[in-house]
Amino acid sequence: MQKQNKPLKNYILSLDADKWLFHADVLVDKAHVVMLEEQGIIKREEAVEILKCLTKIEEQEKDFIEHELTSYEDVHTAIESVLIKEIGEEIGGRMHTGRSRNDEVATCIRIALREELLELMKEVNELRRAIIEKAAENVDTVMPGYTHLQHAQPTTFAHHFLAHFDAFARDFSRVVNAYEHTNVSPLGAAAFASTGFPIDREKTAKILGFDSVLENSMDAVSTRDFVIEAISCYANLMTNLSRLAEELILWSTSEFDFVSIPAEYATGSSIMPQKRNPDYAELVRARAGTIHGCLMSVLSICKALSYSYNRDLQEVTPHLVKATKTTAASVAVMKGIVEGLELKKEEMEKKAQIGFTTATELADTIVRETDMSFRTAHKIVSSIAEKGVDKVALKELNEVARAVIGKKLSELGLTGEKVKEAMNIALNIKKRDVKGGPAKKEVLRMLRARKVDLDTDEKYLQATEERVKRSLEELEKEVGIKKK
Ligand code: ARG
Repeated sequence: MQKQNKPLKNYILSLDADKWLFHADVLVDKAHVVMLEEQGIIKREEAVEILKCLTKIEEQEKDFIEHELTSYEDVHTAIESVLIKEIGEEIGGRMHTGRSRNDEVATCIRIALREELLELMKEVNELRRAIIEKAAENVDTVMPGYTHLQHAQPTTFAHHFLAHFDAFARDFSRVVNAYEHTNVSPLGAAAFASTGFPIDREKTAKILGFDSVLENSMDAVSTRDFVIEAISCYANLMTNLSRLAEELILWSTSEFDFVSIPAEYATGSSIMPQKRNPDYAELVRARAGTIHGCLMSVLSICKALSYSYNRDLQEVTPHLVKATKTTAASVAVMKGIVEGLELKKEEMEKKAQIGFTTATELADTIVRETDMSFRTAHKIVSSIAEKGVDKVALKELNEVARAVIGKKLSELGLTGEKVKEAMNIALNIKKRDVKGGPAKKEVLRMLRARKVDLDTDEKYLQATEERVKRSLEELEKEVGIKKK
């Protein structure tokens, strides 16, 4: 494999992606060589030499990436070429028996992505833990709930934050799905038609920590749907993160004044000495857009590609790397912001009174006390709300009711006491105790259930990491035995 003319060669390079794949590629090479020897396809002494040299290349990762990688077409060619340079083609040239770069690269991407997805699961769980803790401290913290960004009904900070928690819990399970579709082995598919050598695909899958073999050899090298799936998880997760970021940005303005963002996640202004700008949250919001762009890119690259391998597929990987790194970093940033978030509880509670947030409960009370239809009660309360009030008394309600239905509400059984009760913010919340509502009792139940879910998800993650780790230890053991 000769070195190529530089400017021309640069066009087909994908350096960042290849750096990202280096570690995985060495693993794939080792597993393949161990299997080739076990199947009697190469000799013991040959395997020993190749494995020794691979270990050396692995140890010189930094140097290799700096000096060797850029001289070849891609990381796979680079490693094989250096191996051959070191131990000669007679032996080194046997490593690629029964294999193609097509199954090699697909396997490498899956290994590298698998590690990133496990790391992301950890980050998402830490964010969920931070949210749950903030929520648990604020079960009694009253705030206005919004629709259309207008004051709507009172709720609590815990209820609001648990809504974000649930979105991230779904994100976690989406990442798990992506992981499970990623962690299958295409190795052995070769170019697409597999090979006539008696290779053992199950064996390489096992020692590389895959859950199973991606069976059809044509599918194995052609598909990047697992990449699309991972990036769509990221896109969804980033969208959820950006909505939380947006709320925290808004809530930290003087207009809302609900929270203050921790100092290390804010920056000053070069001209206005008083400023504390929420740049980190703003960049999370912006990078959600970047990730949506990555998703569009990979969908567009893969659409209408004929089977099996086309070089177009190489163009997918850099988007994956960028989306992966950006998403993980964004989750970590939001975790830090949530952990250090300070709440201005009095301000929140004060604002919960503004904008007639108890109007729904008032209409509900009229229905319960007078037995009129909800639509009629809505009309009565709505005529009062038009006047821009935050509160009403029975007297005003009676007047409006006379105009709307020709009768006073007190004649139908509504008392001043019940009207006052309907205006009470705390009671509004307490009454909303149906499943999923903001009532303390219900929020406490949700908190408990979510802690259990989070513990279960953490155990899943630990067990999965452990499985992969054990397989890779097995691989290193086999490499060690062969080398002896
Ligand atoms: N660098 C290539 C990629 O990422 C490796 C596979 C090359 N295969 C080929 N048939 N040219 O897709």
